[in-house]
Amino acid sequence: MRHSLIRVRFNDDDTIQEIRDLDQREFPGASWPDSPGAAWWTIDGDPEAGYCGAVLGPRRLARGGWAPLEMVSAGLHGRAKPPCLHLTRGVVAPDFRGQGLQARMISVRLAWGRRHGAEVAQTYTYHDNVPSMRNLARAGFLPLRAGAGYIRWERAL
Ligand SMILES: CC(C)(COP(=O)(O)OP(=O)(O)OC[C@H]1O[C@@H](n2cnc3c(N)ncnc32)[C@H](O)[C@@H]1OP(=O)(O)O)[C@@H](O)C(=O)NCCC(=O)NCCS
Repeated sequence: MRHSLIRVRFNDDDTIQEIRDLDQREFPGASWPDSPGAAWWTIDGDPEAGYCGAVLGPRRLARGGWAPLEMVSAGLHGRAKPPCLHLTRGVVAPDFRGQGLQARMISVRLAWGRRHGAEVAQTYTYHDNVPSMRNLARAGFLPLRAGAGYIRWERAL
């Protein structure tokens, strides 16, 4: 079955809260990318099947730091070109893995970033997340810098 990646409406607070709860289980203690400009997608409209997020903002944010609201809204309304797309989260539930959904989640977010004028994309992986690293490399990302247990990836858009 071919699954769909469905964009969550910006004001769909219930779905975003559901994603937030799932995310806390998947990445306990991780900071939450709660910028109002963040965009989310789910697999088939069901966050339990999988979800991913992205936000526009300045380049080289500290890990866990997200775009200030004024930059995001300026970008979304075309008054400024936000330079960087940040891929914030991506989770595929176990029953849905191995079907290339993470790669599709990457490309849907790259397309969204391009539409909003982003010129570069960044993301992070834990240093031992081999599937994610392979998918990022296949999508044209280069590993830039290794931190304490994580790697920052970047590609031009
Ligand atoms: C990492 C993750 C997003 C990959 O998603 P995915 O859509 O399954 O990715 P792929 O389809 O490319 O599969 C990745 C690898 O998983 C393995 N895999 C294949 N089928 C699988 C299955 N049924 N169950 C688990 N892993 C499977 C394979 O090694 C596959 O690589 P290959 O097919 O290229 O050899 C997913 O495993 C996940 O959500 N993990 C937990 C959260 C996480 O790490 N998120 C990313 C943070 S950067």
